[in-house]
Amino acid sequence: MLPADWRLRQRVLDAARAAFDRRGFGRISTPTFEDTAVFARGVGESSDIVRKEMYTFADRSDRSLTLRPEGTAPVVRAFVEHGMHREPLPVKVWYALPMFRYEAPQKGRYREHTQIGAEIIGAADPAADAELIAMLYDLYSGLGVPGLRLRLNSIGDSACRPAHRELLVAFLGRRRSELCAECHERMETNPLRVFDCKNPACKAVLVDAPKLADHLCGSCAEHFAGVRAMLDRAGVPSERDDSLVRGFDYYTRTTFEYTSAGLGAQDAIGGGGRYDGLVELFGGPPTPAVGFGCGIERLMLAAAAAGGGDAEPARVDVYVCVDDDSRAIESFELAERLRARGLVVERELAGRSLKGQLKQASRVHARVAAICESDGIRLHSMEGREETRTNYAHALEETCTWLSHRSGTERTSAATSV
Ligand code: HAM
Repeated sequence: MLPADWRLRQRVLDAARAAFDRRGFGRISTPTFEDTAVFARGVGESSDIVRKEMYTFADRSDRSLTLRPEGTAPVVRAFVEHGMHREPLPVKVWYALPMFRYEAPQKGRYREHTQIGAEIIGAADPAADAELIAMLYDLYSGLGVPGLRLRLNSIGDSACRPAHRELLVAFLGRRRSELCAECHERMETNPLRVFDCKNPACKAVLVDAPKLADHLCGSCAEHFAGVRAMLDRAGVPSERDDSLVRGFDYYTRTTFEYTSAGLGAQDAIGGGGRYDGLVELFGGPPTPAVGFGCGIERLMLAAAAAGGGDAEPARVDVYVCVDDDSRAIESFELAERLRARGLVVERELAGRSLKGQLKQASRVHARVAAICESDGIRLHSMEGREETRTNYAHALEETCTWLSHRSGTERTSAATSV
């Protein structure tokens, strides 16, 4: 990520942070690597991540460690380990952290990517699901993500899954010969995951498979209807997709995924769902929870595709020029004092000629060039080409006054950054 990439990346992070601040989320970060068991147990042995995609290694004491492939299991591990279930619930946290997955790299799919994610732990209310989904909708819309689509499903809970599983296994058994080897494996480990298969022949078979959405128990059906009604009311368009099961073993009830048109095969820009059993799996009390993860790099590709890629270049208020080395210290002091006033200031550091310095001032979109000369300072407006002179004693006040009289008082002061 080079400085030019960071302009847009920072805009995405700032927008996310503002959205979390408006909703009362606290920030959390978890270690870059943890005990392999955190992910193997948390994400689930039958998931692709655990089976094929983890960066796992032994350290010098032969402990098995894994680079964080996703954010939910470690957040729940921390929630239990730090007794956060004793705090007023729900606990609402967000993170922006790198994730590591051993996948074949391609456009939008990297072995190291960064997720903006959020988890609401300790809330069963459909409003928690709807709040997260609506928040993402606002974030994506604000960034101008093109061709935004939200798919939504409910995959039930321990009350409705067993009966559906039986029907599904019987169906898959009857059509076994038409399914791929990987689906045969899924039939043994987690039959619901067959719906994740990308193989067209399997997809054709699965059109007729019994869907969980048709076998939800009363409370799951009511919960799902609640989420959808709230999203409708908030004006968040969604489509029901009864094959959206997502690739983690921890999900229960709501699952969702946002995609953006024009990204090619890797079009999922965010996804998540409910995981009501995960806190208990980590040794905590039964605690319902819901969350999402959103890939920053894909979001940047989507925003760039919509023409939002050229985030405004950083704005410079004053470019301090030096026409004579004897004024090096005064010009350095002026730059520092202007910065202390909250202005964005660059000082010439490359020994250019005065003409070269003014060219550079224009390249960095400076509003004013302060040219330090032997008999005083020349303030030169880069926008209007006006000039005024001042002496070193009054340079600070004069520059500030002059600046506030040119193009209003708008300033680029230290932006909040993530
Ligand atoms: P996930 O769907 O695996 O969910 O990842 C979330 C998002 O991360 C994806 O929608 C995508 O935008 C991005 N992403 C995933 N893998 C890559 C990759 N290799 N390269 C670039 N971007 C990628 C989770 O990880 C869950 N922990 C989300 C969650 C939170 N569910 C509940 N709480």
